Amino acid sequence: MAIYNLGSINADYFYRVPHLPGPGETLAATDFTRGLGGKGANMSVAAARAAARVVHIGAVGPDGVWARDRLTEFGVDTRHIAQLPDTPTGHAIINVDDHGENAIVLLPGANHAIPETTLAAALSEASPGDTLLFQNETTLQRQAVEMARNLGLYIAYAAAPFDVAATEEVLPYLDFLILNEVEASQLSEETGKDPAALGVKDVVVTLGSKGARWIHDGQARDFPALPVTPVDTTGAGDTFTGYALAARDRGFPMEQALTLASRAAALMVTRVGTADVIPDLKEVTEARFRAPD
Ligand code: RIB
Ligand code: NA
Repeated sequence: MAIYNLGSINADYFYRVPHLPGPGETLAATDFTRGLGGKGANMSVAAARAAARVVHIGAVGPDGVWARDRLTEFGVDTRHIAQLPDTPTGHAIINVDDHGENAIVLLPGANHAIPETTLAAALSEASPGDTLLFQNETTLQRQAVEMARNLGLYIAYAAAPFDVAATEEVLPYLDFLILNEVEASQLSEETGKDPAALGVKDVVVTLGSKGARWIHDGQARDFPALPVTPVDTTGAGDTFTGYALAARDRGFPMEQALTLASRAAALMVTRVGTADVIPDLKEVTEARFRAPD
């Protein structure tokens, strides 16, 4: 089986700041790092680290060859990442404060110019039962779900960054929906429906330090978060999603997939960075978590 991930690829610029800047404020950062990110790329790397076969569908500009190479190094199939001649690679300015909270400014760039032919060529290689995964940092969501339904793929959507219209448009196609607490309550407000009543077979709501809730055929089941001291929460949700779908794709029951995902996300919260620092399967299975004394 394989996961076909229609997803963003960004250069992430991390600034460590004493607090998140307010309007009109100029703030000196105390640290800086650059790395591979984008919700899409993060999920591809997480799924690959969880030992799934992952085909990334996306685009970069002339300045993004390194990002594609990095994905290849992580074991992601990058044949369907288009190289666009005159659109910049997406990038994100990420401010992280002393509590590990972040605020992100995003330039979509090439992520909003993925050729439909690239998507079609990638999915033409998919087999029934493979997974289509996508998020909200690219275009072509509707085309992707239509193609995926015709091909009999398992359709999984991480509704981030949240956009109610985009979510409602793809909702009827979904087998799996994952969103965070804030996104879930926005969706309930806008649609007037509780996540359990959306008609999606599996809905996962991530609750940060409170863990995650899985709603299957209307029945809720909670997964506690593991005790960690947060350093940088960026990419933890993406890691959760990539791990969960990889484990499911590899045949694990959903309970086990979500337990593994919780462990991977917990480790991720203790690390500064995104795709480059996603833990591998050995680290995730062997990690010990202990409540602070
Ligand atoms: O979810 C984290 C990601 O959001 C970062 O990697 C950044 O690129 C933004 O897309
Ligand atoms: Na992180």
